[in-house]
Amino acid sequence: MAKPVSAIYPGSFDPVTNGHLDVIGRSRGIFDRVIVAVLVNLDKEPLFSTDERLEILSEVTRQWDNVEIDTFEGLLVNYAASKKAQVILRGIRAVTDFEYEFQMALMNRRLRPDIETVFMIPAEAYSYLSSSLVKEVFTLGGSVSGLVPSVVEDSLRKKIRSIKG
Ligand code: PNS
Repeated sequence: MAKPVSAIYPGSFDPVTNGHLDVIGRSRGIFDRVIVAVLVNLDKEPLFSTDERLEILSEVTRQWDNVEIDTFEGLLVNYAASKKAQVILRGIRAVTDFEYEFQMALMNRRLRPDIETVFMIPAEAYSYLSSSLVKEVFTLGGSVSGLVPSVVEDSLRKKIRSIKG
């Protein structure tokens, strides 16, 4: 029997968008196990805390039994190896993503040649979507409806309200 294939889908997910969910939904049909791994980056000040991001991700992927949510610190390849994952999964939206992703994939391969990076393309409708644009548009009063799950919209509303006081 073929060995089950596990993929790590890493990122900041601050917050998760429908583009991320589209990639997770596609990947779970290809890999036996998909681990969505939130980077704990102490140098960056995220809008949502690690716990908030984990809670949102758990909620929006609850219906998918082969998708797990986790956090990681340090080198991604070391984390992937600790999870016995064979694949690092990344979404590519447009040509502009390519250079950065290409560099990361080759550096990760140099560090751990046994771990393969696989790229997936989200649905066209999400090709311009990013967490930072979502935050900017929402903060300035624009609608992000249809671009993020409703739980994210609710969380953004609460978060902005608490920041504005
Ligand atoms: O949400 P992002 O910014 O697209 O995710 C970037 C991420 C988390 C995949 C990348 O920053 C990462 O892997 N960080 C962990 C540290 C690491 O392994 N750095 C070397 C990458 S070649």
